[in-house]
Amino acid sequence: GELMSRVIGISRVAIGKHIKALRAQGFDVYAKPGGGYTLDTVSDVLGDGLIMSYSKTDADVIVLETVKSTNIDAKAWAEDAAVHGAMMIAKTQSAGRGRKARHWQSVDGGIWSSTILRPTVAPNDIQPVTLAAAVAVTQAIKQNNPDAHPLIKWPNDVLINGKKVCGILTEFVGDMDAVRYLVVGIGINAAFSIKDLEGELLYTATTLQDENIDINRSKLIADVRDNLLALIDIWTETKSASHIIQYYKQHMAYKDEEVIITGAGHDTTGILVGILDDGTLKIQTDDGFEEVISGEISMRRNNHEI
Ligand code: BTN
Repeated sequence: GELMSRVIGISRVAIGKHIKALRAQGFDVYAKPGGGYTLDTVSDVLGDGLIMSYSKTDADVIVLETVKSTNIDAKAWAEDAAVHGAMMIAKTQSAGRGRKARHWQSVDGGIWSSTILRPTVAPNDIQPVTLAAAVAVTQAIKQNNPDAHPLIKWPNDVLINGKKVCGILTEFVGDMDAVRYLVVGIGINAAFSIKDLEGELLYTATTLQDENIDINRSKLIADVRDNLLALIDIWTETKSASHIIQYYKQHMAYKDEEVIITGAGHDTTGILVGILDDGTLKIQTDDGFEEVISGEISMRRNNHEI
């Protein structure tokens, strides 16, 4: 403390206050009598300053304790001042939203984030954004833990060992002719156990912690955002999503396996062939090839629909 106060040029009392603030954020700073302060380097803290220190972009990050849904608050922020790439995170959500108006359980330890994007594209052309988000998360998990093998379940769930570790809900605000902004909601089950959640999720979902994937949450989400912005930049500049589709194809779950496609009016069973260049899913059924624009993939495994 004494040394820090001299080097930084602030009082010993001020150092004590900063240490207290760091502890309040979750950093494990120990004080040994006569031995000074020790920072536990494995502290897994989700903090805006820390995320910015890992980020390549200057766009703001806000980390809040709890909100109903980061997608709702991010929209209000986008209506106000948020720039392209700004990201809002909450430690818990009381009314987290999933696809198809499902509830998304958002306990402490997860990374519940919404990133605002302002691409200059027509509303009909936004399909690659959602694929890009799944690619960005997959890349970031691998960057932070090379032993992990995340795969993407069409259209945009990320799985580890066959179970869902991340869900993505992209919302669009604009009119028929123009996108005003997009809110890309990304929920990553990180530092908690799936046993803490209610319902069937035990069989269908997992967390990074349960898969023994050690990560620093602030670094992981900083990388997710950087990856997403880089993918979006290339897409808007080149008007091509081939870089997104190429990575997606290489990391696709259930390829060449039998799957059931639901939610597209009727259920279709077939072998998953892959995706086309516009993100459409291609399956081979008894009657030939079928292309599916929207819907969900499910499989039956151990008597559970996943
Ligand atoms: C899904 O159903 O798979 C999508 C889940 C998306 C959850 C994330 S968590 C952060 C953001 N805020 C929300 O309310 N939902 C998304």
